[in-house]
Amino acid sequence: MGNEYFEIVGGNPLFGKTKVYSAKNAVLPMLAGAMLTSESVVIKDCPHISDVENMVKIRECLSLKTTWHGRDIVASGKVDNNHIPEHLAGVMRSSVFMLGPLLVETGKVKLHTPGGCKIGARPIDIHLDGLEKLGAKIRLLDDGVECSADRLHGAEIVLRYPSVGATENLISAAVKAKGKTTLIGVAREPEVVSLCDMLIGMGAKIQGAGTSVIKIQGVENLYGTTVTPVTDRIVAGTIMLAVALTGGKVRVEGCDIRHLGALVTKLVSKHFVVIDSVGGVTVESDGQIEPFDVFSGPYPKFPTDLQPIATAVLSQLRGESLVEEKVFENRFLYANELQKMGAEINVFKDKLLIRGRSLLGADVTATDLRGGAGLVVAGLKAKGVTKVSGVEHIDRGYENIEYLFSNLQAKIARKNV
Ligand code: EPZ
Repeated sequence: MGNEYFEIVGGNPLFGKTKVYSAKNAVLPMLAGAMLTSESVVIKDCPHISDVENMVKIRECLSLKTTWHGRDIVASGKVDNNHIPEHLAGVMRSSVFMLGPLLVETGKVKLHTPGGCKIGARPIDIHLDGLEKLGAKIRLLDDGVECSADRLHGAEIVLRYPSVGATENLISAAVKAKGKTTLIGVAREPEVVSLCDMLIGMGAKIQGAGTSVIKIQGVENLYGTTVTPVTDRIVAGTIMLAVALTGGKVRVEGCDIRHLGALVTKLVSKHFVVIDSVGGVTVESDGQIEPFDVFSGPYPKFPTDLQPIATAVLSQLRGESLVEEKVFENRFLYANELQKMGAEINVFKDKLLIRGRSLLGADVTATDLRGGAGLVVAGLKAKGVTKVSGVEHIDRGYENIEYLFSNLQAKIARKNV
């Protein structure tokens, strides 16, 4: 596993058709929220990626039935209180999504300090502050946190920052709380809206999903449902950025361009056109787009998850550009790897100054999921051979990224050392 790498020969424009599946960042909170009913919740068209596989495993160690049927996941069962592992292994950030639902279903959760990418401290104070207002008792342990509650009650909660995970945890905790909850300053990401769609399908009473204020009327019980999550805008955006860099013409089935406004406005020009956007999107580029500046922020601003991939593109466009990362405090680790390919990038605290030029293939290492995806995209254009190791980071969020791009005529293969 650890000795695999992607070998990429740069220079091929991308041509052909591909498809995006349900968004990783919608499926993960859904696999947590599904436990709010013991009936079957069917989550459709899921990607076979390790973050989802891991969440399935976490559910199983909670004795929750979780089975794949093709790309659909059927989740059911009631948490068996005696099977909660001492600490939910913080193998990744998504374990924190269990906090709200587990608290509702078991009345007590010990959460190991969540793991995940090395892109920042990733505290959970906003989650805990909200749960406390809903009636939970919070005890900080040296290696995690313990939350306990009998029955949660409604509250008015103002989030100090529109945290995606905290928004999702608090919604999941409030849907069966006693009374009315108002969440103010919540995340507006499409994945949050998708989670609310699932919960409403289960019988929850939620208003305002996608806006900054969500109102929830607690109900006694929730029931089974079938949900098709929003498709993965970050995978789709990765493909669009790759086409902008290499040139070519690609159809991305299932992409909802309405969720990529901040990216599209940066790319669309005489060098990059959106040909059609019904049922997906077809984009065409001559690979000569002008450099642009990136200021990441909460939705609908430029997504932080596309910031590393945008930098990989900007580092190979003639001209200067500025990248500001306003969501995570340490999301430039990949820049050092791009510099091994010859990239001229000056890293300041939360800013990059990039002077674009042609890059040379090199041996580089993925530091995190999206940084790794950026290195793959950089290799699609760099002269010569690029070898990207640390593929396990990339496999967390992209299903066989090597097939994704080789099916579009890129020269890329997964190899063993
Ligand atoms: C979700 O992470 C996504 N992960 C991330 O995608 C995404 O980058 C992020 O939202 C922002 O859009 C999933 O949905 C599984 P946040 P999350 O809470 O919920 C700080 C990927 O590549 N913060 O919105 O962890 C936090 O430190 C991943 O798919 C607090 O300070 O993000 C960060 O600086 C990477 N206290 C900022 O807020 C808190 O209690 C945004 O974090 C919570 C967050």
